[in-house]
Amino acid sequence: MTSTTPALTQDQMKTQVGEAALAYVVKGQIVGVGTGSTVNKFIDALATIKDEIKGAVSSSVASTERLRALGIPVFDSNEVEDISVYIDGADEIDHRGHMIKGGGAALTREKIVAAQSKRFVCIADASKLVDTLGAFPLPVEVIPMAARSIIRQFAQLGGEGQVREKDGVALVTDNGQHIVDVTGLKISDPRAFEAEVSQWPGVVTVGVFACQKANVCLLGTPSGVQTLTFD
Ligand code: 5RP
Repeated sequence: MTSTTPALTQDQMKTQVGEAALAYVVKGQIVGVGTGSTVNKFIDALATIKDEIKGAVSSSVASTERLRALGIPVFDSNEVEDISVYIDGADEIDHRGHMIKGGGAALTREKIVAAQSKRFVCIADASKLVDTLGAFPLPVEVIPMAARSIIRQFAQLGGEGQVREKDGVALVTDNGQHIVDVTGLKISDPRAFEAEVSQWPGVVTVGVFACQKANVCLLGTPSGVQTLTFD
């Protein structure tokens, strides 16, 4: 009789990649921490080695609260010169490490902490790996008064933008801005796309992470964690 190991659930895959990311944390240093349900698993794992690190720089109010609740010191990014590693999730990641991020509306601070970090380790379950970015609605953080003109500009690229709402009103980010989610895009050149949209007036941050792409992706698959490395 043969016995087969049951495939991991999505939640178990998130737990596994969150725990696997501990191997990239540099002892005695400050770690950059992203936002989202996968990162929450990482934060829980990080708490088990909290005495071996100096603390964290966080990318959102939600992650800051979780880190502090677990006794992990949180530093302001302005207090820290550079960060050895940044651990964060993604909404999509392609085979070169480019990502769409911002499903949790934390993209601006995520990009800031990623830019401050020497290495980006993405933790994601296998559903996030794509050939071309764009099936996930692209989050763009915008100055509220520019939302309509930005939506019109996306329409010229074939995208349909919508202001993200929460409880029937426009969602307000940790930075006091709004999010436009854009469907219908196929982002074949993420670097050029990020460069173009980033300079539109009123765009705070576009959720394409091409300049700040991942160096490593710990991908949770039904049979365990796969490590993808990018140039
Ligand atoms: C938040 C993000 C998250 O990393 C992204 O949305 C993935 O989240 P999850 O791990 O919950 O799927 O970019 O702004």
